[in-house]
Amino acid sequence: MTTAHRQRKEDHLRICLEQDVAFRYPSSGLERVQLPHLAAPEMSLEEVDTSTRFLGHALRAPLLISSMTGGTEWARTINRHLAEAAQALGIALALGSLRAALEDASTVPTYQVRDIAPDVFLCANLGAVQLNYGYGLEHCRRAVELIGADALILHLNPLQEALQPGGNTDFRGLLDKIAAVCAGLPVPVIVKEVGWGISGELARLLHQAGVAAIDVAGAGGTSWSQVEMYRAPDESARRIAQAFEDWGIPTVQALIEARRAVPQAVLIASGGLRSGVDAAKALALGAQLAGIAHPLLRLAAQSAEAVMGYLQEIIQELRIAMFCTGSRTLQDLQNLPVVVRGAPTAYHAGPQQ
Ligand SMILES: Cc1cc2nc3c(=O)[nH]c(=O)nc-3n(C[C@H](O)[C@H](O)[C@H](O)COP(=O)(O)O)c2cc1C
Repeated sequence: MTTAHRQRKEDHLRICLEQDVAFRYPSSGLERVQLPHLAAPEMSLEEVDTSTRFLGHALRAPLLISSMTGGTEWARTINRHLAEAAQALGIALALGSLRAALEDASTVPTYQVRDIAPDVFLCANLGAVQLNYGYGLEHCRRAVELIGADALILHLNPLQEALQPGGNTDFRGLLDKIAAVCAGLPVPVIVKEVGWGISGELARLLHQAGVAAIDVAGAGGTSWSQVEMYRAPDESARRIAQAFEDWGIPTVQALIEARRAVPQAVLIASGGLRSGVDAAKALALGAQLAGIAHPLLRLAAQSAEAVMGYLQEIIQELRIAMFCTGSRTLQDLQNLPVVVRGAPTAYHAGPQQ
């Protein structure tokens, strides 16, 4: 890994831990989503079943620890704490971009968690734009093999690349290249944003390209324009990053757009999910998994137990939300009529897989 690349990764982690990097506006929109409270659910809380299958893999709860880190000793500790928690809770885990591992073999162990997370649905991660900067199918295959991943996540981050000094900003022809990776890789490919959302139309094109799932990674949670603002080299770069403070498609809007554009797509919701109630809302809107990144960072820097404690609360909140809507299963939750305040009609997620 080049010194600049390592420095950037460390800056990102440090800024995410020390500064307020949450979107001020827009919000994720989750506060406008209302699930139908059922005062007589005719079931007991114990009956709630959060288990699911995601891309053929059994999960005990529909949660994904979203991509964050790798490449440094600090990142290794974080990844191992996240992995231990994911294994204990039976949820999915995505690691941060493996570019460092592909470029510097000495960093590979900072991503390796299979020894402590043998059963976890584990996702590798790479920037899709790297496909225009010398990476191809072989790099994707290697990223998957290095960590024994079950899937590869490719992230799309044009704004982040445009705001960061020396970013890779040639996004030409990427959809065709993503299609080639989907066709050639032995594991499923998931495509995500990093916090500005994927539109309905892009979800359609990605589905057409053969991606197995789409994480809308919408606006309203971690704001990468804020992160880049804190590490801007000068006042001008700082002002440019700040101009994008309210950019992006809020998570709820992205989710609704994607579900409408491609009813059969497997969707993940992330971007500002901060409780099990948020997760329940996202699942009711048609997501198969709820992804969380930033709130886990500080906890993962402490211990696996801290991560586990937080995620257990999220799962309990999700269970209670299911109970209070009379949803025994996630399928029941996904069939609820959801009201999105400010939207013209009650929203039904529609057919699920
Ligand atoms: C410290 C940190 C590092 C991240 N690194 C990556 C990454 O390497 N690849 C990626 O696809 N997304 C990355 N993300 C984005 C998250 O996976 C997620 O999409 C986004 O932060 C929204 O979720 P949140 O609001 O729960 O943080 C990172 C997020 C954080 C907070």
